Amino acid sequence: MDYNSEFRRSIDQRDEFWSEQARQIDWIKAPETVWQAKDNGHGDWFPDGVLNTCDVALDANIRAGRGDQKALIYDSPVTNSQHSYTYNELTEEVARFAGALKARGIGKGDRVIIYMPMIPQAAIAMLACARIGAIHSVVFGGFAAHELAVRIEDAQPKALITASCGIEVTRVIEYKPLVDKAIEQSSHKPDTCVVFQRPQARADMQTGRDLDWNDIMASAEPADPVPVKATDPLYILYTSGTTGKPKGVVRDNGGHAVALKYSMKLVYDANPGDVYWAASDVGWVVGHSYIVYGPLFAGCTTILYEGKPVKTPDAGAFWRVVQDHGVNLLFTAPTAFRAVRKEDPEADQLEKYDVRSLKRIFLAGERLDPPTYEWLREHTGLPILDHWWQTETGWAICCNPVGIEMMETKPGSATVPSPGYNVQIVEMDGSQVPAGSQGQIAVKLPLPPGCMQTVWGDDDRFRRTYLDPIPGYYSSGDGGYIDDDGYVFVMGRTDDVINVAGHRLSTGEMEEVVASHPAIAECCVVGAHDEMRGQIPIGLVLIKDGATIDHDELEEELVEMVRDKIGAIACFRRAMVVERLPKTRSGKILRRVIRQIADGEEYTVPSTIDDPSILEEISEQFRR
Ligand code: COA
Ligand code: AMP
Repeated sequence: MDYNSEFRRSIDQRDEFWSEQARQIDWIKAPETVWQAKDNGHGDWFPDGVLNTCDVALDANIRAGRGDQKALIYDSPVTNSQHSYTYNELTEEVARFAGALKARGIGKGDRVIIYMPMIPQAAIAMLACARIGAIHSVVFGGFAAHELAVRIEDAQPKALITASCGIEVTRVIEYKPLVDKAIEQSSHKPDTCVVFQRPQARADMQTGRDLDWNDIMASAEPADPVPVKATDPLYILYTSGTTGKPKGVVRDNGGHAVALKYSMKLVYDANPGDVYWAASDVGWVVGHSYIVYGPLFAGCTTILYEGKPVKTPDAGAFWRVVQDHGVNLLFTAPTAFRAVRKEDPEADQLEKYDVRSLKRIFLAGERLDPPTYEWLREHTGLPILDHWWQTETGWAICCNPVGIEMMETKPGSATVPSPGYNVQIVEMDGSQVPAGSQGQIAVKLPLPPGCMQTVWGDDDRFRRTYLDPIPGYYSSGDGGYIDDDGYVFVMGRTDDVINVAGHRLSTGEMEEVVASHPAIAECCVVGAHDEMRGQIPIGLVLIKDGATIDHDELEEELVEMVRDKIGAIACFRRAMVVERLPKTRSGKILRRVIRQIADGEEYTVPSTIDDPSILEEISEQFRR
């Protein structure tokens, strides 16, 4: 099968195509209906199918004879430890933890928040929720208490699962005080809080609510997978939008399992027994799809790495992991390799390790800049494959479909639309843009299986954000173009979302925090170009009349506020006091122009600007 005919079939004979893919997973009751329209081109996948996602990930592999194969390898340079689980062992742990949750009254449809570092218990907790039909919502460990509180408020979890600490390069981060603070801030209180105690920091336990992971595991009865409808939610994953309130992306069980299984072959050409490593974090969609679910659906061995690309202990860390575990497929964000390249420009570290097991390197999460692509290509001699996707889609919208046909790579392009995604470049009114010209990247509805169903608790927001802007299409929020050969080039967000070291963040959210400082009259935050992190946020602030505060002191306070409310990962380190902000006559802040000025790019003075001289003032300040 070649790519073009596979792609055409996925669009022209959609139901037949996905029905075939659905047969690649184990169902409790196989679906008869493939896709059912709801409204406006949106719909449900496999609505009458019944399955259990944990069964597909674990038990199905045991049934297929892979019980003694390694399912998960935990590699932790920050604690100097490694541990692996076979499919038999992982299933037993997961079933036991599922039983422990069940014994606390947690079952189908209940929400469970998981706020954990990169330890196997995070994956075990996710799979255990799936086993009993509970909906997990993993919150990235780098988020501060306030962010966690917002998610507790929205998801209303019955239980929260955490660990006593996470370990960063220079410090141990105690999680429990953050969890306690978040629960205190939220009006919703989970009944149960399960804590995995780590020796690097012991958590104080609250009687009645807090339970020790090991204690409840010791007395637990293993639980069997419960049947759930394909359309029942598997998880909620919060992601940044343009407003201060994150969106809870809801993913189903059936479409997710079918799509991820298909993607493991299509995008990565992963086969049972392959060692697959996504160097990311379970708190992000990459971690959900390709540390936990995808590799297990495909019978691979997945690696869960608690460390960084550099400084744990050096820029050879990735190559060391590849060698130690015989990694075949590696997936990470370009920023990780930018960090490696900065510390080891000639890739001397690569020479120290035997990385012959490695077949391909995959990158996503942000634009793969051509210098990073070239560096990797030159030093590894391997195919370096960019692919473009989002939390909302859960798997690649565009990729090099190596599982079907390896296509020529074009630096700067995520290659071609994955089968199932009818990608088009359009104007906001839905009219087509000619090949080579930039526009909004949109996907003609319906979306393929595995994509978001709705926004948790706010279907209106889902429609307003994704379906209403361009009728008949899913609006991706990214801009770009398709060239004459059908290659898709993603040029960046067209909204106020920024990407800092592969972490998706909202400038709107940072603006809310900055604006809450008593001395601030008005502010705006833009994402400026950064060599290593891709983008970093920069604040422009206007001080209230009469407020007297030293500018450096104010900057320090604002930086601390963003760290405290959002987290250190926001990397908000600069707040510049300005006399005025450039606005249109209708009062809209001209963020795009500010960003261009910050990046030292040429800009055209918008005709709608209220007072063009402000732009010169701001340029002057950036130059200083
Ligand atoms: N828990 C708590 N704090 C965290 C954290 C976590 N899980 N992850 C990061 N932080 C903190 C860091 O300690 C740092 O704090 P500091 O300002 O006090 O030093 C801050 O957040 C910024 O973190 P980061 O941007 O990760 O900087 P870094 O210097 O530690 O590492 C990279 C830089 C490029 C090596 C790192 O960002 C990286 O590996 N990125 C890959 C991105 C990725 O995996 N993205 C997922 C999508 S594929
Ligand atoms: P997230 O939801 O955190 O995965 O972030 C999704 C956003 O990251 C997308 O909307 C893009 O802006 C950006 N992104 C992800 N992958 C790529 C890629 N391969 N090329 C360009 N941008 C990307």
